[in-house]
Amino acid sequence: MAVERTFAIAKPDSVKNGHLGEIITAIEQSGLKIVGLKMTQLTPAICKGFYHEHVTKGFYKELEDFMTEGPVAIMVLEGENAILRWRELMGATNPEKADAGTLRKRFGANIGRNATHGSDAPESAKFEVSYFFNAFEQM
Ligand code: RTP
Ligand code: MG
Repeated sequence: MAVERTFAIAKPDSVKNGHLGEIITAIEQSGLKIVGLKMTQLTPAICKGFYHEHVTKGFYKELEDFMTEGPVAIMVLEGENAILRWRELMGATNPEKADAGTLRKRFGANIGRNATHGSDAPESAKFEVSYFFNAFEQM
């Protein structure tokens, strides 16, 4: 398995509730390397472009309201098999179904407000990283 890069968000609930430090610690302790990191706040237009696969879904309005409600921390993570490893660290989309110790179990409230985002495949990782980070912002 080659070294990969993936895209991560500490969602608005995580930042607001003061869990950013613990999320960064979990990433570093897992062995994944943070090669890009910044704070931003999504606008509705930026959110639509980012979650383009979900804009026609029933939950999209709720997702957009949540994702734009406050600052987020966005990251590029690097490591062997980074896409799957970050998804495993986050846990299942629904925190109620997430394994003990995962970030969504620890910090997520429900399937909508679920603490973190992670790319789900090499193609989406490439798109999502380049959507938010230019070459000079990735170490
Ligand atoms: P993400 O893209 O944020 O990493 O989450 P995921 O792959 O685990 O799940 P996905 O199906 O891509 O859904 C994206 C985000 O939409 C919200 N959601 N709400 N109310 C609902 O039924 C529902 N389903 C999904 C969650 O915030 C989910 O992370
Ligand atoms: Mg997804």
